[in-house]
Amino acid sequence: METIAAISEYYDRGGEVDRLHAGRGRLEFLRTQDVLRRVLPAPPVRVLDVGGGAGAYARWLTADGYRVRLVDPMPLHVAHAATIDGVDAVLGDARRLDEEDDSYQVTLLLGPLYHLPERADRIAALREAARVTAPGGVVAAATIGRYVGLYDTLVRGRYPEPEVRRITDAEIVTGVHQPFDQDLFTLAYFHHPDEIVAEFAEAGLTGAERYALEGGAWLFADRDRWLEGDDRTVALLDALRSVEREASMFGISSHLLTVAVVR
Ligand SMILES: C[S@@+](CC[C@H](N)C(=O)[O-])C[C@H]1O[C@@H](n2cnc3c(N)ncnc32)[C@H](O)[C@@H]1O
Repeated sequence: METIAAISEYYDRGGEVDRLHAGRGRLEFLRTQDVLRRVLPAPPVRVLDVGGGAGAYARWLTADGYRVRLVDPMPLHVAHAATIDGVDAVLGDARRLDEEDDSYQVTLLLGPLYHLPERADRIAALREAARVTAPGGVVAAATIGRYVGLYDTLVRGRYPEPEVRRITDAEIVTGVHQPFDQDLFTLAYFHHPDEIVAEFAEAGLTGAERYALEGGAWLFADRDRWLEGDDRTVALLDALRSVEREASMFGISSHLLTVAVVR
């Protein structure tokens, strides 16, 4: 549970409850939802939302008719998710799921792989997702891009600070994000876009497809004006969808969603 202890101070602040409502989080949410609505089997099927946090995705999946169980190691997140109508929320760890084999048609990992710096732990989480998902079902996992920290510290103007620069330069080589400011993020792993396909395959999830969620739009200076829910938002989502499978977009995207059908 060592990595969980390392991230609990950050998540205990309660920031996950509202994170996806505005700004970058809103873009991440809209694009994740947009892709999931096209790749998931139709409701009502059983969905295991591993690392589901405070339930932002469980809420709309349940509203769409899916039968959702959410698993998360943070008691605060589980308590919040449990207040959402229809969501069954329990404490647990992606690496050791307390679920039967083949018991879900969909397993989502929209967060756990961010916080497992050891490759063996990420493979264990993906193997568990494959184990609990029935053949023909879908495993979808989100990862944070290897170069997000570099661009983020540049945009925030913090890259020139010697300590920030030292940590960020190491991060683009190792993928391990050592937090320099707990207001920004906690211990994390940032994937190279090619790495996640190999991790899926090692966990028995072959034929995985990747989707660039935000592409470069998370860096727009006027990003929030594109997210006001009007015609511009529709146009932005159309544009990002049109290049979501283009491999040259993967490295700049803040998040990738990788999707495989269980065989
Ligand atoms: C950035 S949050 C994302 C939450 C939610 N899926 C969302 O997208 O809004 C990452 C989540 O992963 C959870 N997490 C971290 N390590 C985990 C592990 N080993 N097993 C399961 N969940 C984990 C955290 O507690 C947190 O809720």
